[in-house]
Amino acid sequence: MTAQVLDGRALARQLNKALKQRAAELARPPGLAVILAGEDPASQVYVRMKGRVAERLGFHHQQIDLPADTSLDTILSTVDRLNQDDSVDGILVQLPLPGGLDGRVATERVLPDKDVDGLTSVNAGLLSQGRPHLVSCTPFGVMRLLESSGIALEGLDACVIGRSNLVGRPVAHLLEQRNATVTQCHSRTRDLPEIVKRSDVVVAAIGRSNHVKGEWIKPGAVVIDVGVNRMEDGSLIGDVEYDAAAQRAAAITPVPGGVGPMTIAMLMENTYKAAVHHQG
Ligand code: GUN
Repeated sequence: MTAQVLDGRALARQLNKALKQRAAELARPPGLAVILAGEDPASQVYVRMKGRVAERLGFHHQQIDLPADTSLDTILSTVDRLNQDDSVDGILVQLPLPGGLDGRVATERVLPDKDVDGLTSVNAGLLSQGRPHLVSCTPFGVMRLLESSGIALEGLDACVIGRSNLVGRPVAHLLEQRNATVTQCHSRTRDLPEIVKRSDVVVAAIGRSNHVKGEWIKPGAVVIDVGVNRMEDGSLIGDVEYDAAAQRAAAITPVPGGVGPMTIAMLMENTYKAAVHHQG
């Protein structure tokens, strides 16, 4: 079996195109503000890509750059200012913050209605109760990719590898809400290969290159690889051994070009949703 490649780049392009049209019908363009503190090269690339897509969609976009030695108070007062700015529908504080500053405190300061990252306890709590409002972008994108694979999740065994608030936890909630039976795995899971081997759906969000071996994949499974690991030669590698897994899976996401572009597309969708909400 050779897997269907779930092309996140193509799907994101299609969704962005449709969203651009819907956004043009609003009284004013959706507004997105991104706070980037410090000079983490990966964060700089992500933030630049988010800004570029926002502008392509005709959104109002602003990036607030803060120095690496910025204080938490400065970040919080920046968030406060954006919370009060009616032209801003969505606020994103890029993580991680420099100097060991607590990202949770900063993201929690964003008004839940402007929390297009879905990271506030209000939005995370609503999701965990099955009442999603603004859903964290990567998990939201994972679900859209699963939908695009045509797989009916009901009753399937799914495993999520990783339990971060950004990805693993919300993905597990979303899968469970689509009636999959979810096993949440993490660094202390005793027999990861065994759990992966019986899973119809595997979502890998560990952050370790090639950690999930191709031979673990159940024939016909759907594999979503959230990992983005930069190798010494500059190339990007996922958490799953792609070639070997693609021999067994029914569908698989590539890295790059799978989940990444979908994360950005979902950020745009959340910003649009927040704008509609604010415009009443
Ligand atoms: N850093 C890596 N991914 C993300 C994300 O989705 N949101 C934020 N705020 N920071 C990130």
